[in-house]
Amino acid sequence: MVRWLLVVPALVAVLLAVLKGGAFVVAEGEATCSGIVPMKSREKMVSIADFGGVGDGKTLNTAAFESAISHIVQQNAPGGTHLHIPAGVWLTGAFNLTSHMTLFLAKDAVIKATQDTSNWPLIDPLPSYGRGRELPGGRYMSLIHGNGLRDVIITGENGTIDGQGDMWWNMWRQKTLRFTRPNLLELMHSTDVIISNVVFQDSPFWNIHPVYCSNVVVKNVTILAPYDSPNTDGVDPDSSMNVCIEDCYISTGDDLVAVKSGWDEYGIAYARPSSGITVRRVTGSNQFAGIAIGSETSGGIENVFAENLDIFDSGIGIHIKTNSGRGGFIRNITISDVNLNNVRKALKISGKAGDHPDDGYDPNALPVVDGLTIKNVWGVGVRQPGSIQGIKDSPFTHICLSNVTLKVNSSREVPWTCADVSGGALEVQPSPCAELTSVNGVRFCTNAL
Ligand SMILES: *[C@@H]1O[C@H](CO)[C@@H](O)[C@H](O)[C@H]1NC(C)=O
Ligand SMILES: *[C@@H]1O[C@H](CO)[C@@H](O)[C@H](O)[C@H]1NC(C)=O
Ligand SMILES: *[C@@H]1O[C@H](CO)[C@@H](O)[C@H](O)[C@H]1NC(C)=O
Ligand SMILES: *[C@@H]1O[C@H](CO)[C@@H](O)[C@H](O)[C@H]1NC(C)=O
Ligand SMILES: *[C@@H]1O[C@H](CO)[C@@H](O)[C@H](O)[C@H]1NC(C)=O
Ligand SMILES: *[C@@H]1O[C@H](CO)[C@@H](O)[C@H](O)[C@H]1NC(C)=O
Repeated sequence: MVRWLLVVPALVAVLLAVLKGGAFVVAEGEATCSGIVPMKSREKMVSIADFGGVGDGKTLNTAAFESAISHIVQQNAPGGTHLHIPAGVWLTGAFNLTSHMTLFLAKDAVIKATQDTSNWPLIDPLPSYGRGRELPGGRYMSLIHGNGLRDVIITGENGTIDGQGDMWWNMWRQKTLRFTRPNLLELMHSTDVIISNVVFQDSPFWNIHPVYCSNVVVKNVTILAPYDSPNTDGVDPDSSMNVCIEDCYISTGDDLVAVKSGWDEYGIAYARPSSGITVRRVTGSNQFAGIAIGSETSGGIENVFAENLDIFDSGIGIHIKTNSGRGGFIRNITISDVNLNNVRKALKISGKAGDHPDDGYDPNALPVVDGLTIKNVWGVGVRQPGSIQGIKDSPFTHICLSNVTLKVNSSREVPWTCADVSGGALEVQPSPCAELTSVNGVRFCTNAL
C-alpha cells in the first residue's frame, strides 16, 4: 500500500510528460497547466523562403508572409501546416495568421517589424474598450495578428520577434502618435493557442495580448524591453478564459502580467470576463508591477491563481487596481509564493486607478472586489509594505494576507495604509493595518487558506 502511494504519482508524472508530446520537458512533480492545449507537430511543412522571403534584414517580407499564409489556407492540409522561419532577419509589416498553423522560428531567426510606420494598417477598436487604449478611434494592427482562429502554435528554438519599438516610443514621448500603438502579438476570438520557446523584444506597446480567447498557453517565453519603454506590458490576458502563463522571464517597461477585461461603459456592455487564469514561475523586473489585475476590469475578473513569482528591482510586487466607473468584479484571486527583492511597494490594492475612455462612463458603476488571498510572500529591500484602498460605497471584502514577511529598508518606517477594506491577516510582518486584524478576520483568513 505504502509503496503504491509512492509509485502512482511517479507514473502519473511520466505519463503526463509523455502525453505532452515531449515538446515541453516536464520536470517530475512540477505543477503545470500547459496541458490545456496539447503540443503537436505537423506533417506538412513550408518555409518562408518558398514564398519569396529574403532574410537579409533589408528586404520587406510582408507579401511573403501573406502569400505563405494564404497558401496554408488554400492547402487546408490535414493536421495543419508548419511555417518554418529559418535563421536570418525577416523584416516585415503587420500580417495575419490563420488557423491550424505553427509559426516556427528556428535558432537565430528574427521576425523584425519594419520601422516604416507610415503605412501600418489600422483596425477597429476593441468593442470592450470602445476606442483605442491610448487615443480615440481605431488602432494600429499588431505586428502578428489573428482573429477568429483555432489551433495556432507560435514556437521555435528561441528565435526572436522584434518590434523595433523605439520609433513608436519616441512618437509617444513627442506626442505625435495619431492612433493607439500596435501590440507585438494580438489574437482575438481565438482558441487552442500555444506560444512557447520564443523571445519577444521591444514591442511598440503591449507584447502578447490574447483578447476574447480561450485555452491559451504562454510557456517558456522571454519578453524584453527597456525599463523606460512606455506601456510595454508582458502578457495581458483580456476577457479570456483558461489562460496559462508559465516559466517566463519578462523584463519590460510596464506590468509583467496584467489580467484585464475591458474599459468602463464599453467593457460593462460587452460583459466578457477573464476567468481561469494561471500564472506560474514568472521572473522579472519593471518599474510598475510584477503581477497586476486591472485596471481595466469592467467585464469582471475571477478565478485567478498565481504562484512562484520572482520579482526584483520593480515598482510594485502585486498590484490589484480598479476604479469607480469600471463596474465589473474582481473575485477569487489567489497569489502565492512570491519573492520580492528591491521593490518600492510590495502590495497595492487600489480603487482609484487608471483613466476613463470618455465622459460617457457611469460614475456609479462601482466594481465589486471580494475574495483576494495573498500568501507566502517574502520580500527584502522593500521601501513600503503596502496599501489597500477600497471604494467608500463598495468596500473591498474578504481580503486575506497570510505569511507575508517584508524586510523594509527605508530611512523612515512607512506603515501599511488601508481604507474601506475588510478581511484578515495571519503572520504578516510588518504588522498590517487594523482593518485586517480583527478576531473575525483571523477566523475568515484561516478558513480561506
Ligand atoms: C487582418 O485581419 C483583420 C481582421 O482582424 C482585417 O481587418 C485586416 O484587413 C487583415 N489584414 C490583412 C493585411 O490581411
Ligand atoms: C525553453 O526554451 C529554450 C529555448 O528555446 C529551450 O532550449 C528549452 O528546452 C525550453 N524548455 C522547455 C522546458 O521547454
Ligand atoms: C533565449 O534568448 C534570450 C534572449 O536573447 C536569452 O536571454 C535566453 O537566455 C535564451 N534562452 C536559451 C535557453 O537559449
Ligand atoms: C477559485 O479559483 C480557483 C482557481 O484559482 C478555482 O479552482 C476554484 O474553483 C474557484 N472557486 C470558485 C468558488 O469558483
Ligand atoms: C511562508 O512563506 C515562505 C516564503 O514564501 C515559505 O518559504 C514558507 O514555507 C511559508 N510558510 C508556511 C508555513 O507556509
Ligand atoms: C534597500 O535595498 C535595496 C536592495 O536590497 C537597495 O538597492 C537599496 O539601496 C536599499 N535602500 C535603502 C534605503 O537602504
